[in-house]
Amino acid sequence: MRHCHTVFLTAYGTEVLLMRQDVSAIDAIGRTAFAVAALRAAEHRRTDRLFSDPWAEQFLRAAGEVLGPPEATEDFAALMRTQAAVRTRFFDDHLVGATERGVRQVVLVASGMDSRPWRLHWPEATTVFDLDQAPVLRFKDEAMEGRVAHTAATRRAVAADLREDWASCLHAAGFRDDRPTAWLLEGILYALNEKAAEGLLADLTRLSAPGSTLAFDHFEVGPSLRAATDRLGADLSRLWQSGPTDPAAWLSRHGWQPEVRELANVAACFGRTPHHAYDAGPGAEGHSWLAVAIRPPAPATG
Ligand SMILES: C[S@@+](CC[C@H](N)C(=O)[O-])C[C@H]1O[C@@H](n2cnc3c(N)ncnc32)[C@H](O)[C@@H]1O
Repeated sequence: MRHCHTVFLTAYGTEVLLMRQDVSAIDAIGRTAFAVAALRAAEHRRTDRLFSDPWAEQFLRAAGEVLGPPEATEDFAALMRTQAAVRTRFFDDHLVGATERGVRQVVLVASGMDSRPWRLHWPEATTVFDLDQAPVLRFKDEAMEGRVAHTAATRRAVAADLREDWASCLHAAGFRDDRPTAWLLEGILYALNEKAAEGLLADLTRLSAPGSTLAFDHFEVGPSLRAATDRLGADLSRLWQSGPTDPAAWLSRHGWQPEVRELANVAACFGRTPHHAYDAGPGAEGHSWLAVAIRPPAPATG
């Protein structure tokens, strides 16, 4: 049974009919994509914003009351606000840079409400694979339907579960593993245990031609974050796992040349300071990393 509500928004004095979409098929981890959208929408409203993302607000409006009461979410938002803004800009720059250097395949792994397929200026002939769980992509496609969102890239929605054979789904969508790829793992490593993180990177590495790049964010769960996720509810809090505990070693083990930075250092380049739990100072409760890596050419033989 489909639940569909309508709401009226006033845009520039015009009544706009907005369809409220069904989110009942989206699971707890899928709904975390709306939390990121909320942080991006807030950044978009700032006069000193690090990026523009008008679609984030659209997704939120289409989803309706999906995030829970503000008193349950405010601590989490305070912890993640700067991380989400800085990482978004950092990955925007990284992905655009990769395409400027000639990469024409981009894979947004666990893309959620990431609007980069429409938001970034891609060179012609770029293919952006937008990979997430089927219900999440159904929501996203429906929310974008009929919107004026030009993109020079070809966007391919890839409905896949990372715990299953997602590589086949990617290939079926036209992915070529003999060409370099710019991979993005944004807002996903936190939800994996170390074994799952190993498996994911092993799979991804097998699909990565020399010259491919990989970018991701990750952070350790300290007491403030654990308290904030507990306030979101048990279903959500139990999603937070360790992921790779040493990102640089994790990358090197799989043959990538890593550049792993502290969030605080990247944030400083943009004039921002993360929440004190992740400001890299003496009172910090753990690391918050932003990383990029490159897959070097295979050593010459003979
Ligand atoms: C916190 S959101 C991040 C979304 C997006 N990368 C961003 O930063 O805006 C986590 C996303 O991971 C996706 N995800 C989690 N587990 C997944 C799985 N097993 N297979 C595919 N997607 C998954 C969820 O559906 C959700 O969209």
